[in-house]
Order: sequence, then structure tokens, then C-alpha cells
Amino acid sequence: MVCAAGPASGVGTLVRLARNRGWVVQVMATPAAVAHIDVEALEEQTGRPVRSQHRVPGDLRSPKADAIIAPATFNTINKLANGIADNYVLDVANEAIGLGVPTVILPFVNSAYAARAPFRRSVEQLRDEGVPVLLGPGAFEPHEAGTGAALRSGFPWQLAMDHVEKSSPRAPG
Ligand SMILES: Cc1cc2nc3c(=O)[nH]c(=O)nc-3n(C[C@H](O)[C@H](O)[C@H](O)COP(=O)(O)O)c2cc1C
Repeated sequence: MVCAAGPASGVGTLVRLARNRGWVVQVMATPAAVAHIDVEALEEQTGRPVRSQHRVPGDLRSPKADAIIAPATFNTINKLANGIADNYVLDVANEAIGLGVPTVILPFVNSAYAARAPFRRSVEQLRDEGVPVLLGPGAFEPHEAGTGAALRSGFPWQLAMDHVEKSSPRAPG
């Protein structure tokens, strides 16, 4: 599940990591993230449609899945922590957490966003629900506002992959 944050255009890296490790990959994007990603290239890479809207009859059903939300925005983290489901990604993510599906959140936020009290509360709330938010030392560390563009290529997609693989009973192999 991809949100509209700097590294979104590089989500093909996560797809490649996951496919190399034997996972089937379905990309879902928030409506705002669609403009950041190459939908056609991702559909070719995964062999599946990129979903950002609810299914209409006849569309392929998305597989039941372990979930990685990356890059996760300030906006989506706050909404998810508070049970808001006003787009397809949030619908699926809220339900996944409620079902106990292993779900990992890898944020990409600057230090101004990260300093906000609502954001800090959201991260705590998600962790209290058992959802790993890979934020802090050894995980994603917020950058100074205005410097994110230079850091996109170093986004640690691998951390999310390693985490979901450790926590999922469905991990390939
Ligand atoms: C070019 C651009 C880059 C952005 N980068 C980030 C970012 O790195 N992290 C973030 O939390 N929000 C970022 N935003 C703001 C989000 O895109 C905005 O809050 C949006 O509503 C998030 O929608 P979503 O959470 O549904 O994907 C960026 C916006 C733009 C236009």
C-alpha cells in the first residue's frame, strides 16, 4: 500500500525485493499516490492491477494478504490510527489490522510532521494495537523539513520486507 510521499515513485524496489523472496505482490495506492507512481510499469512488474478504488463487479479480487504500508504519510498514519477509512487503502488497512493480519508501517515524514502531538499519538495508538511502525533509531528516522527529496533513494524498503517476513506465518519458504 503506497501513500503520496517522496519515495512512492520507487515502490518498484519493494516489489522486486518481495518477488525475489517468493511473495505474490498486489500494489494498492491512495488516490493521492497515483500521481507519484508508474501504474503501467507496476502492473507489468506484478502482473496485477494497481488498485486505488473499490472493486466493481467483474474486477479481479485482491488476494488476502500480509500488508506493508510504505511509504506511509503523516496523513495516512493519522487517519489509520483513528479508524478513518475514506479511501480504498485505508479501508483495506483498517480491516487488515482488525483481522490480525500482519501489517507493517514504514513512514516517510519530516521532523516537523513527526514532532506534531497528533502524529506521536497515532504512532503510539498503532503500536498499542500491535502494529509495528518502523520509526526511530534503527528504523526510519525523520529528516529535516525540505530535505526529503535527496533521501528518497535511500528509503529502507528492506526493513519493511524483513519485518513482515519475520511476523507472517505465510512467508514463502
Ligand atoms: C511532492 C510532494 C511530496 C510529499 N511528500 C510527503 C512526504 O514525504 N511525507 C508525507 O507525509 N507527506 C508528503 N506530502 C503530502 C501528502 O502527499 C499529502 O498529505 C496527501 O494528502 C497524502 O495523501 P495519502 O496519505 O492519502 O497518500 C507530499 C506532497 C507532495 C505534493
